[in-house]
Amino acid sequence: MKKDLLTLQDITKEDLKEILELTSKLKNDRQCSKSLAGKSVGVIFAKSSTRTRVSFEVGIHELGGNPLILDQSKTQIGRGETIEDTARVLSRYLHAIVIRTFKHSDVEGLAANASIPVINALTDDYHPCQVLADLFTIYELTGGQLEGKSIAFMGDGASNMSNSIILGGKLAGMDVRIGAPKEFKPSDEILNAENGSGTATWYEDPAEAAKGADFVYTDVFVSMGFEEESKARLETLVPYQVNAELMSVAAPDAKILHCLPAHRGEEITHDVLESHQSVVFDQAENRLHVQKAVLELLCK
Ligand code: CP
Ligand code: NVA
Repeated sequence: MKKDLLTLQDITKEDLKEILELTSKLKNDRQCSKSLAGKSVGVIFAKSSTRTRVSFEVGIHELGGNPLILDQSKTQIGRGETIEDTARVLSRYLHAIVIRTFKHSDVEGLAANASIPVINALTDDYHPCQVLADLFTIYELTGGQLEGKSIAFMGDGASNMSNSIILGGKLAGMDVRIGAPKEFKPSDEILNAENGSGTATWYEDPAEAAKGADFVYTDVFVSMGFEEESKARLETLVPYQVNAELMSVAAPDAKILHCLPAHRGEEITHDVLESHQSVVFDQAENRLHVQKAVLELLCK
């Protein structure tokens, strides 16, 4: 594997297989590995988090490591110290850095100047750890048969989640279908990215995107950092809500995914989120197991 995990273009199909297999092992016995014994991992947050913060802290602890959870605004980055200097200093103390921030270029700058692995825990553009957990959830549901399965992502098609589902779905050989209005369509660069044998297509018509899909995925219509656009986003994205009507065109036993947090009544209805087809809490649990696998492989 590469030194860092910044996007799902940093891993190969073989890396993905290794991550999914190791995740299975770590999920079966949460105490089976102490691969981070004697190691410290910094986990930096410039945005809010529930799942990512807790799953990284617990995961590092379970692997025998020392998690240091840092609020970016309370570090000297918050007072203007450069990302480059921060990377060089933290590399002298830590064995890996996990970071959630706004600009993806900041994470790239951190990785380029750090001598230790850097893991992206969400930027405005990508959320690779979430999608690895999602692919693992699909791996469990399909007995490892991800190739050829279809996944429809509904809503903000230019978001960190949409971008990462496109890259991760392609890597896993899936058929990725993005249902989004033209204002929020995925960039051609992401749609056409070379990343494995899967395909990615944008549909303006939500029903076309969801038609026959094995998995239907959504995320908040207003991502962190885009709150000023809330009104326009909520209005434009209404037709892309995942509800019973949309689910009626998906595959009969389609599973419903959501990275959470959910805003019931906006991107998804309460009944659909709570239905027997929903696997959202399995996805959330799998963040823990998959991130332990990534840390173990990158910190070898
Ligand atoms: N899905 C996810 O990343 O959740 P948090 O924002 O709570 O970490
Ligand atoms: N797209 C969402 C994901 C939250 C986990 C956001 O960036 O706020």
